[in-house]
Amino acid sequence: MSHNAEEYDAIAERLFAPIYPVIAAAVVERTGKRCGRMLDVGCGGGHLALAVLREGAFDHVTLLDENADALKMAEDRIRGELTSENRTSTMLSSCCSDICAADLAERIGTTFDLIVSRGSMPFWDDQMAAFKNLYALLAPGGVAYVGGGMGSRALREQIAAQMAEIRRQNGGSGPRMFDMSASKALETSAYEALLEHLGADYDVVANDEEGRWFVFGKPAE
Ligand SMILES: C[S@@+](CC[C@H](N)C(=O)[O-])C[C@H]1O[C@@H](n2cnc3c(N)ncnc32)[C@H](O)[C@@H]1O
Repeated sequence: MSHNAEEYDAIAERLFAPIYPVIAAAVVERTGKRCGRMLDVGCGGGHLALAVLREGAFDHVTLLDENADALKMAEDRIRGELTSENRTSTMLSSCCSDICAADLAERIGTTFDLIVSRGSMPFWDDQMAAFKNLYALLAPGGVAYVGGGMGSRALREQIAAQMAEIRRQNGGSGPRMFDMSASKALETSAYEALLEHLGADYDVVANDEEGRWFVFGKPAE
């Protein structure tokens, strides 16, 4: 997929900023994960990883995106936070890859206690391959929180209004909400069937406030 990382990052910084702490709080509350190893898939500028880091005491964060420009911005943002907060014991690593890649789990070579991903799923060409990779990348007892949303209906409406105002001031050009009709994501039942087949513990959060999120865990050994 071609994605203008700088353009998206500017929107995330200027308009989406308030959604990440809300989503991060929901991640931590639903998964119970506050420490260990965290992976952000389709991290973009790293805003969700950063908000989740602020909720806990993770000792390792890995950023994954297929877009090298996005990954660089995310690395810089997270490194800046870790340095300024003197959290130098938190390790940072990154992986420039398609989440659907067949050899991904072998290439990464480690597993994670928490995997988060927001707003990336609509772009994945092979949804089943991506979910199999996510499951393979979970440590025993690990949990993934994957999907999309704007934190709350009020935030979504606030951001839509801000976008409309920017377009009004720019003669009609400017940011727009993602057109869900272009999403490559599947019906919820397709993921449920796969997660059952994999033996995952799972829950689906799908509502007008939060969006749609798949919360799935690998049983502890
Ligand atoms: C809409 S942005 C969301 C960024 C970030 N998660 C956020 O919430 O601000 C989608 C990101 O997913 C990445 N992406 C899209 N398809 C991908 C794939 N198949 N594998 C890895 N990253 C992908 C894009 O490069 C982009 O950075």
